[in-house]
Amino acid sequence: MQNLKGFRDFFPEDMSARTHVFDAWRTVAQRFGFVEYDGPPLELLELYTRKSGQEIVEQLYTFSDKGGREVALRPEMTPTLARMMAARVTTLPKPIKWFSIPQLFRYERNQRGRLREHFQLNVDIVGAAEVEADAELLAVALSVQLELGLGQDDVVARVNDRRIVAGALGILKVPDENVAAVYAVIDKFRKIPTEKFTALLNDAGVPTDSVPELTRLCNGSVAIFDWFAPHLASIDETTRKAVADLERYLGLMKEQGLSELVEVDFSIVRGLAYYTGIVFELYDRKGKERAICGGGRYDDLIASLGGPEMPALGFGMGDVVLSLILRDRGLMPAAPPRADVVVIPVGAELAAAARQVTYDLRRDKVRAETPYSPAGVGKDLKTATQHKIPYAVIVGPDEWEAQEFNLKNLSTGEQSRVPVGELADKIRASE
Ligand code: HAM
Repeated sequence: MQNLKGFRDFFPEDMSARTHVFDAWRTVAQRFGFVEYDGPPLELLELYTRKSGQEIVEQLYTFSDKGGREVALRPEMTPTLARMMAARVTTLPKPIKWFSIPQLFRYERNQRGRLREHFQLNVDIVGAAEVEADAELLAVALSVQLELGLGQDDVVARVNDRRIVAGALGILKVPDENVAAVYAVIDKFRKIPTEKFTALLNDAGVPTDSVPELTRLCNGSVAIFDWFAPHLASIDETTRKAVADLERYLGLMKEQGLSELVEVDFSIVRGLAYYTGIVFELYDRKGKERAICGGGRYDDLIASLGGPEMPALGFGMGDVVLSLILRDRGLMPAAPPRADVVVIPVGAELAAAARQVTYDLRRDKVRAETPYSPAGVGKDLKTATQHKIPYAVIVGPDEWEAQEFNLKNLSTGEQSRVPVGELADKIRASE
């Protein structure tokens, strides 16, 4: 039997890599004052069909349960969060800062960096309309990269604002009813050739003479702020505020010492339907991998799920692409050994004594083990080396008598005699 395509087995070494990433996620989220929550992996199908957008709905794992309910495995966490918020948000002190590490399921075409299940760090802020919150959110995503050893040569955050795109589309005479379709095309900008992009923009209702201008904005040959400058007096208040917010946002990223990791990019609009303001995605600088992370503001989602009007923003960062990049840079640490020390009896008659030493070490919080069937010092040392256990304590009759044991470093071969009461500290000190 094989596992399903796009689903992973986590052998211990894979699990250790996963834990390494999760630990960095938790550490950084908590450092910024976020608390952990979780929700159910199975939800009513309607939760996603209402607001997530066409692309993700097409990728759903969905079925009727035994009670005839149409249900789906969660493909993303944001609808669950918004549903939970709709129920409680009025009673919670603001701003609410939550994070979660759900496993998500999407029936994707198999490709590098995209599987049919993945884990995703979700960091969300609810009840904060300030740009300071947007800037903090991006700082969390970037600080995770730094925590894992990646820097400005490895990753870049591409930022934009959906209101700015909407404003530009207005200036470029795209009819209101076509705006959502045009977002979907802009979202594909980096994934498809220019001719195809042009054709899709035409199909989506962009007037033919506006297509070159829109393409210039997307490929960065004209900067957003320069492009808007001549229009600032005539554009609507929402777009004007969005342009000012984006400038302020960039200033706040600079204030946090992170501006080298941030670039404005008009082609970032996000594939999901619910975003309303500043949006961003993280990519590897080499441009080899798919997005590491994506998120932004979604100020209308909670109200659309029956809650009150409530500003909200967040991001999702997958484990798949991030792990590919960490491996590529040699930044994924090897799995730690399963124990720090093995206690080996010199003869079978000392097995009980070795067990006793092991129990004492564990009580002292040292990760210790002893062979179930001692096979002789030589063989037991060899087994310990195979398991990459760094230390051995050898229990012979004299040592047992004196309650002083030989502590052997299995990589250097060095050995020293240590009184039983000092063993735990000695092992811990050499870790
Ligand atoms: P998303 O862009 O669909 O956003 O996913 C966020 C990240 O999850 C992606 O950048 C990618 O790293 C990872 N990811 C997505 N799909 C897959 C896949 N099939 N295989 C491996 N990794 C994948 C969201 O899901 C939003 N709900 C994020 C959010 C949270 N927005 C606000 N709060």
